[in-house]
Amino acid sequence: MHNIRKISEDLIYIGANDRRISRFENQHPVPNGMSYNSYLLLDEKTVLLDTADKAVGELFLENLLEALKDRDLDYMIIQHMEPDHCALIPRVLKLFPQVKVVGSQKTFGMIQQFFGLDLADRAMIMKEGDTLSTGTHTLRFLMAPMVHWPEVMVTYDETSKRLFSADAFGAFGALNGSLYADEYNVDYDLLPEARRYYTNIVGKYGRQVLALLEKAAKLEVEMILPLHGPILRQDLYYYIEKYSKWASYSPEEKGIVIAYGSIYGNTEKAAELLAAKLADRGEKNIVVYDVSAWHPSYILSECFRFDRLVFASSTYNMEIYPPMETLLLELKGHNMQNRAVAVIENGSWAPQSGKKMRELLAEMKDMRVLESEISIKSAMTPADVEALDALAELLVAA
Ligand code: FEO
Repeated sequence: MHNIRKISEDLIYIGANDRRISRFENQHPVPNGMSYNSYLLLDEKTVLLDTADKAVGELFLENLLEALKDRDLDYMIIQHMEPDHCALIPRVLKLFPQVKVVGSQKTFGMIQQFFGLDLADRAMIMKEGDTLSTGTHTLRFLMAPMVHWPEVMVTYDETSKRLFSADAFGAFGALNGSLYADEYNVDYDLLPEARRYYTNIVGKYGRQVLALLEKAAKLEVEMILPLHGPILRQDLYYYIEKYSKWASYSPEEKGIVIAYGSIYGNTEKAAELLAAKLADRGEKNIVVYDVSAWHPSYILSECFRFDRLVFASSTYNMEIYPPMETLLLELKGHNMQNRAVAVIENGSWAPQSGKKMRELLAEMKDMRVLESEISIKSAMTPADVEALDALAELLVAA
């Protein structure tokens, strides 16, 4: 039995889930697995839109053959060359020696790099706005460099008004039977993993994502078909608005992230006390994370979501406590910007983490560090508690 799914009479979902994967890109935890989406258009010509990860290789190839039902494959469109989508290109070429390969100029250089294959005899190199007629459908190609790699292009089916969006609008997590986002509890089950996927995978390239959104705004789009996660066919504006916020580094809503790195619990105590003081002052959406317990991808995602950030860290080897340093470097690496920020340091003999955290934050754009110097020496004193009160006031006002 093959798990291929009809999206319409002539468009078939032939992707597959990997629930055994523990870390996407060998770094981000994916407790709910991953879906590798792939689509087959059965027009007068047959068109494959992207292959899949090698982990689901056999499933994908079985699905492809089943959906083709003895037809030949005419075109293979490569929207993105990251191996989670391109790994099976050589297998498809072997099965369909006549297939034409459609991609951007850079795609073919990467095919050469990854597989040592020169496809000059079958390459159809697309530039911005080029089209391909497949019979009743006309596919238009839009270049989307750095969403998420330089060769990326997306495909707009002018006939069905569907946008095949490559990595954009994707999400971590396998598909649970339902192909469409509107069949999930979006805010509870989908959005957190869509946000964590976007911010960690594409988050650095906000400017390029905004450029793609601008192009997409000129199209009449009824369905967005990403390469990971469910297909979007309702409330498209809801997702586009989220993307606009993430890509412009604007907070989605008011809220405070308190991330702490604590060795023996004293810095943790300060973080917990600050959270309580903020709640007493009426703040909602306070989220507290132990940087030693949480993978940075989760905390980074929350930093994109909320407008105020607090980093409380022990000093370690005269530096920032390493898991906190990792988080801050991740934030810097993903272009985190435009937030009100506070730091709290701890150190038993030579507290340094505050100074070092400020230095790192100064390397990010528009991170407005609040005027508050909280330097705990081992354990909080009554004066530190008063300083936390003052910090809570500053955060509420920020
Ligand atoms: Fe899903 Fe950038 O690959």
